Amino acid sequence: MSRFVTKTTDEWIHFFESEVPNHVTDTRWEHIKRVAKFAEQLAKFHFFPDPKRAYLAGLVHDTTKQKKWEIHESLFSEFSLNVDSIPKQAYHAYSAPLFLQREFGFYDKEIHSAIQNHTLGSLSPTLLDQIVYAADFLGSDFCQKQSELPNWIQKTEENLYFGIFMKAFQTISFLMEKKEVIHPNTFFTYNHALQSLKETK
Ligand SMILES: [Fe+2]
Ligand SMILES: [Fe+2]
Repeated sequence: MSRFVTKTTDEWIHFFESEVPNHVTDTRWEHIKRVAKFAEQLAKFHFFPDPKRAYLAGLVHDTTKQKKWEIHESLFSEFSLNVDSIPKQAYHAYSAPLFLQREFGFYDKEIHSAIQNHTLGSLSPTLLDQIVYAADFLGSDFCQKQSELPNWIQKTEENLYFGIFMKAFQTISFLMEKKEVIHPNTFFTYNHALQSLKETK
């Protein structure tokens, strides 16, 4: 693993700030920058020890979002990752860490996990998983159009489960509307965040 630790966090940030835009559209890049900033901000509010690493996780979380199926497939096959139970909309979350590792030699276990879990949620999320999950919601195109956004940001700064709940709620509503399959991790994330919010009221 040591051979992958070739740059400091600041160096990786510098590198990916110029590299990631080569892989996504301008609109997606704007989303990514918002998510990185929200992740850093939430890391400070919720005592994640290294907010710059949260920023870095946000910066790379959607790197393969717009890649063709063949790219995802070659990564899953190369890394022997079974994605039978993963819905298509989450493929990029599973392929991005592998892409970052293969293409750039970037591997960070904690960031790898946060990227992988940012779409479906997780049954046992780490603090960074939760930060990136909530930041992905606050930085979404959907949120940019909502007048309630400043209030949602404040509530998520006060209680991370608010943003987590909102993202799971939004994901489930969206998928139900389209009569799409909903992954059990997303239902779990919704229930767990809602329960946690009720307990802290
Ligand atoms: Fe994503
Ligand atoms: Fe995203």
